[in-house]
Amino acid sequence: MNILGIETSCDETSSAILRNGTVCSNVISSQLCHTSFGGVVPELASREHERLIVSITDAALTKANITKNELDVIAATAGPGLIGAVMVGLSFAQGLAYALDIPFVPVNHVEAHIFSPFISEDASRSVPEGAFVSLTVSGGHTLLSIVEPDLSYTVVGRTLDDAAGEAFDKTGKMLGLPYPAGPIIDKLAETGDPSFHLFPRALTSQSQSSKSWEGNFDFSFSGMKTAVLTWLQKQEAAFIELHKADIAASIQAAIVSVLVEKSIAAARSRCIRAISVAGGVSANSGLRNSMQRACNKEGVKLYLPEMRYATDNAAMIATLANLKLSRGMRAKRLYNVAPYASFTKAAKRHH
Ligand code: KG4
Ligand code: ZN
Repeated sequence: MNILGIETSCDETSSAILRNGTVCSNVISSQLCHTSFGGVVPELASREHERLIVSITDAALTKANITKNELDVIAATAGPGLIGAVMVGLSFAQGLAYALDIPFVPVNHVEAHIFSPFISEDASRSVPEGAFVSLTVSGGHTLLSIVEPDLSYTVVGRTLDDAAGEAFDKTGKMLGLPYPAGPIIDKLAETGDPSFHLFPRALTSQSQSSKSWEGNFDFSFSGMKTAVLTWLQKQEAAFIELHKADIAASIQAAIVSVLVEKSIAAARSRCIRAISVAGGVSANSGLRNSMQRACNKEGVKLYLPEMRYATDNAAMIATLANLKLSRGMRAKRLYNVAPYASFTKAAKRHH
């Protein structure tokens, strides 16, 4: 079975072909037109998707060595995301499915991230047999969920303010780094001292607040962000420049230690022996290393996506469609865009 996956929810235009569950192609074009604006400009993103979606899809078909007439199913992100951006991919995908007279599967972008550690190029990766804890950390989401073997999941924690990726990007901007600052902080942190300055770790055992943190799986990064800003304002420009790597490493350590502590606590709370990390921030080397160390200590298996599947990509859209179809979900004919698809805390969702 050949599935075409399409992803256009933010600033990556991507098409992928999945054949019998394994990735044959995954073509991604990252939009560079937003760099000077310090963030993604929605209208520019939509126009760029519109300009590229046909050629990116053609490239994915060519790379997989098939024609569009050999497609069996088309899947696309239906939300959450920028409404105009999602609509480009969703309309294109549904139009093509209609023209080819094949089924269409709408996919939730964040759910697709959750299952991205199990994207397979050689059938070597599969969803764990038991329940697992999923930490999904991107520029727009920070979710801690418990995923059951039938793919249903319960969200047990989420951010009360900024997403983890936003915390990287915004504190990086304060350091004078371009958008997206996450990967640059990661790189700088390699040569920095993470204990150079202790930034706050809200709602954890390391937090100075008297508020109870045990059993609280929510995240908050706004206090850390303000702490970085006020601390930077008190420093000389030359001092900041000299210690850029140390400051980046300290910011990264603050974000990462919260993510690791909460994930381990969520696994303990249900005696779960597997954790997966996904979303753009799962590309962070500090997070990968710390989470691996914590999981080894805890005797928990860690699942991480391949680097190329950590950030937005269409292979994860096709993979989730395939998982759903293999578990009996019926494909749809027409589906509306859901830009604000929400994740109600502790609400169990079934596919
Ligand atoms: O999943 P994604 O590509 O798009 C969204 O759905 O948001 O995630 C993008 C986010 C950005 O905030 C970016 O700074 C962050 O992921 N990111 C990183 C790294 N690579 C991407 N953050 C920290 N370290 C990285 N290596
Ligand atoms: Zn994403």
